Amino acid sequence: MKSYKFLLAGLHGLERSGKKDIILDFSNTKKAMPSAMIGLISQLSPEISYLFVAPEDKKLASIFKKNCWEFHILRQPFDDIPKSVSGSTSLIHVMSSKQVHLAVDQVLRTILTAVPGVGRPQLQALEWSLNEVVDNVFNHGGSRNGAYLEATIFKKKRVVEFVVGDSGKGIPESMKRIGIHNAPEALSQSIKEGVTSNKGYNKGNGLFGTSQIAMKSKGHFLMDSGYARLFYNRMNNSVSSSSEKIPFSGTLVHWSVGLDDPDLLKNALVFEGKSHEIYFDFIDKTFDHDEDHYTIFVRDRIGDISTRAGGERFRNLVENLAAAADDGGGVIISFADISVISSSFADEVFAKLAEKRGEEWLRRRVLVQRANDVIQGIISREIASRLRQTN
Ligand SMILES: Nc1ncnc2c1ncn2[C@@H]1O[C@H](COP(=O)(O)OP(=O)(O)OP(=O)(O)O)[C@@H](O)[C@H]1O
Ligand SMILES: [Mg+2]
Repeated sequence: MKSYKFLLAGLHGLERSGKKDIILDFSNTKKAMPSAMIGLISQLSPEISYLFVAPEDKKLASIFKKNCWEFHILRQPFDDIPKSVSGSTSLIHVMSSKQVHLAVDQVLRTILTAVPGVGRPQLQALEWSLNEVVDNVFNHGGSRNGAYLEATIFKKKRVVEFVVGDSGKGIPESMKRIGIHNAPEALSQSIKEGVTSNKGYNKGNGLFGTSQIAMKSKGHFLMDSGYARLFYNRMNNSVSSSSEKIPFSGTLVHWSVGLDDPDLLKNALVFEGKSHEIYFDFIDKTFDHDEDHYTIFVRDRIGDISTRAGGERFRNLVENLAAAADDGGGVIISFADISVISSSFADEVFAKLAEKRGEEWLRRRVLVQRANDVIQGIISREIASRLRQTN
């Protein structure tokens, strides 16, 4: 994390000397973390064209591609960027405040399909914090190049890590408005409840809530901005901020959230002594629902029905939506406009759910609609076959 700052210092030097073409040569790079890469990419100047040399290390080169770092350094048109369908998301460039919700939705959709058993309060905590941090870029930043955002999902550890970087004026500069002129102090103040440089318009809860969500879920929290860094030390549960020799010309917020505490939202988002309630979230916004059922249209997820990995994503989504529904409700899977499915899809989704959660759960919580006889037959056959093998 320290060393990306040396690279930044070099880049700023070249920029100041008026260079218009800069080669970013990663051929000898052995390791690259999302936080450092977003720190770097968010600082690239729109006026300079960058050339890119890929790492010689094959594995690292593929990480550069998969995370779209290479594409963003070269600023290729968005259509050329492959959409990540794997378990983690790739770097997203948010160019205006209107795009914030699109980026947040994309990240949440990936999380819902990548990790089974994520409770709704945890999802709401992720959605809230991501929205707040990306929103800040457009509220306070004056960034010359929007916001860069990357989420990394650690399925086994059940942790999601976020990095958001911008090239705006930075927290120390914006906090001068309320008379704070010391950079480390500005960072310390910015994560306190109710501290804002924009009284009357903002509440000052975004970074406070986000840092609480990270800390209370045993995650990480770090910010680089101007000549300061703020760091949460998990070992002794303390926050410290220090001044830095090399500045970050903008704001970088790096935090991670554990997914397993159902009380996270209730305990972390407490404003003026009251738990913050969320009445309308990504799930409500995205999935058709009546009082107690969420509907998934298979035709909307065609990409999931041809491979086992796709089937697994679909199954995770079903489990998460079933958990999000009220106890008496569940999920409707609609096969409208679908004439046939593969046995492997039926096995991945229906048979594995029957095996994991029991046939009774599947019958009660997952309703199949508009499935023709062929589809019904394949589903029943796959359930029976898997249950026969395990019994
Ligand atoms: N990306 C950023 N660029 C510059 N300044 C920032 C940025 N993010 C936060 N800040 C500064 O930190 C302060 C605290 O941020 P925080 O999100 O906690 O509160 P807020 O945005 O002012 O209010 P709220 O989030 O409740 O609407 C902001 O008022 C602003 O001065
Ligand atoms: Mg805010």
